[in-house]
Amino acid sequence: MTQLKLSRPNIDETAISKVAEVLRSGNLVHGAVGREFEAAIAAFVGTSHAVVVSSGTAAIYLALRGLGIGPGDAVLVPDFTFPATANAVVMVGATPVLVDVDPKTYCMTPAAAEAAINAFSSGAKLAAILLVHEFGTPCDMLGFRALSDKYCLKLVEDAACALGARTSFGMVGKGSDVACFSFHPRKTLTTGEGGALVTDDPVLADRFRVHRNHGMQPAEGGVAFVEAALNFRLTDFQSALGLSQLPHLPGWIESRRQLVERYLYALAPLEQKGYLTLPALVDGQSWQTFMIVLDRRFDQRSIIVAMGEQGIETNLGAQCLGDTQTHRAYRATLDESVAQRLAKQGLALPLCETMHPVDIDRVTSTLARCLEDAS
Ligand SMILES: Cc1ncc(COP(=O)(O)O)c(C=O)c1O
Repeated sequence: MTQLKLSRPNIDETAISKVAEVLRSGNLVHGAVGREFEAAIAAFVGTSHAVVVSSGTAAIYLALRGLGIGPGDAVLVPDFTFPATANAVVMVGATPVLVDVDPKTYCMTPAAAEAAINAFSSGAKLAAILLVHEFGTPCDMLGFRALSDKYCLKLVEDAACALGARTSFGMVGKGSDVACFSFHPRKTLTTGEGGALVTDDPVLADRFRVHRNHGMQPAEGGVAFVEAALNFRLTDFQSALGLSQLPHLPGWIESRRQLVERYLYALAPLEQKGYLTLPALVDGQSWQTFMIVLDRRFDQRSIIVAMGEQGIETNLGAQCLGDTQTHRAYRATLDESVAQRLAKQGLALPLCETMHPVDIDRVTSTLARCLEDAS
């Protein structure tokens, strides 16, 4: 029985030889390939600057630090995401304010964020909105830009899953103060580990460069150490990997979109039976993950095990932050949140551009059998 993984990195021989070229050159960091990758990302997104870093988490941390967010500040964060989003807020010394998400897009909405702003009563100062384009589904950026302008809040995009997704501003990464991408192997474009920040603000971009590199900046006659900071650099061989994948990204997203259409068509009868809920279709999705929501009668863990026994890897989609030990203290309400339900009943199905339509058919028919058996 062939195994179907949730996703597979798409690394061809050209990418491997580009990495080998860098390894043979001896210039492993601080080189031309890293700068070329930054220029390519900026051109792809349409921003003036891109700064590559060692992970998506590093990107979010540097974004907040670069914006001057720290102790005494509070940041709006969606309750359904990977914990790195809120961890970065805590690591700069600020406080996350958890906002529930939409049950079909899995994203925070401007309306929910505004309600949280109006309900906010702590002694901290609300400083920023850190939105997440969950699984590559773009948030309502027009709404969020209007909201951040209205309340004088910084707007940061956790676009870890959303390189290549589009909003009404163009590519995800335009329309905010800064956006952060991840190149982890579960992302469509991967450098193994890695990430990037994009912005149109040259002062911010310089700050990110200083803060990713020991607080060091060029100075007359050499370099100066101007602030205490850590090392969040990306290597040039990782940049070579990303650089060779970037031109393929739009085509890969289109292939994913077509596979998702097949999923939606095949799963519609199960939705009609009340077995599951399908995700919303939103213009510009990059489909990093395809997550359905199981009806309450099904136990997520048991279905994951049953699918695994048939050689198909499935998993939960993301976490409810308010239910994690780390962020429990920031939980807004004791009532059941949408985020809780999505974390408990969400099921991510295999999706990557190298899958074939027959793979989708195998997943959907196996899932139908598992749900029938369990109901
Ligand atoms: C929404 C979100 N934010 C942040 C991250 C962290 O990215 P990284 O693993 O590159 O640090 C992830 C990774 O899965 C994510 O999904």
